[in-house]
Amino acid sequence: MELIQSGKYSLVHYDAERDHFIKTFQPKTFDRLRYALRIRPYPGHNVVLIAKRLEALGIATPTIVETQRYRSVTENIRGTPLKRLILDSPMLQEQYLDALTAFDHHGIHCRGLHTNNFLVRDERLFAIDLDAYKAPRWLRYSRREYLDCLRRSLKGEEAFLFARLLERLGLDEHYQPLR
Ligand SMILES: Nc1ncnc2c1ncn2[C@@H]1O[C@H](COP(=O)(O)OP(=O)(O)O)[C@@H](O)[C@H]1O
Ligand SMILES: [Mg+2]
Repeated sequence: MELIQSGKYSLVHYDAERDHFIKTFQPKTFDRLRYALRIRPYPGHNVVLIAKRLEALGIATPTIVETQRYRSVTENIRGTPLKRLILDSPMLQEQYLDALTAFDHHGIHCRGLHTNNFLVRDERLFAIDLDAYKAPRWLRYSRREYLDCLRRSLKGEEAFLFARLLERLGLDEHYQPLR
C-alpha cells in the first residue's frame, strides 16, 4: 500500500494490486459528534450521496468499491489532473465551468473545487474528493462562501476561470447581479 496524500483529517493510500484508492478519515471530535447526531452524513456515506447527486447532474465520479463511516474505496480513474490540461483546452474549461455553474444552481457546496480535485479521462471530467462536498438538506449553503472559496482556489493563471464563472452567473465582482 502506497501513501498518496495525507491531509489534516484524512489519508489516501493506493492499493496497486487492486488498482484502488483508499481514503480513511480521522475527523476531530466535534465532527464525530455531528456525524453521530446525524447533523451531517459520515464522510464515507457522504461519498455515496454526493456521487449520486453529481451523476444526476451529468458529472462523472469514480466507481465506488465500498464505503464505511470513515473509509471509502474507489477504482482508479486513470486520469490526468485537470490542472495540467485546463489552460490549453477550451473544451475542458467549458466542462469545468458547466460543473461549477450546476453546483451553484443546485446549492451544492464544496471548499475544494480547485483543478486538482478533477481528473480527465477520454476528454471527460471526473470529480474526486467527494467527501468534501456538501449537498443541501434543509438550507442551502451560502453562495458568497461558495464563490469566495472558488476565488481563492482559482489564482494566477487560472484566475480568468473565476471571472468567466461570474460572467456566466450574471454577477459582478461583488457578486451583485449585473444590470
Ligand atoms: N479514484 C481515484 N482515481 C484516481 N486518483 C485518485 C482517486 N482517488 C484519489 N486519487 C488521487 O489521490 C489524491 C488525493 O485524493 P483526494 O480524495 O483528493 O484527497 P485529499 O482530500 O487529500 O485531497 C488525488 O489528488 C488523486 O491524485
Ligand atoms: Mg484532493
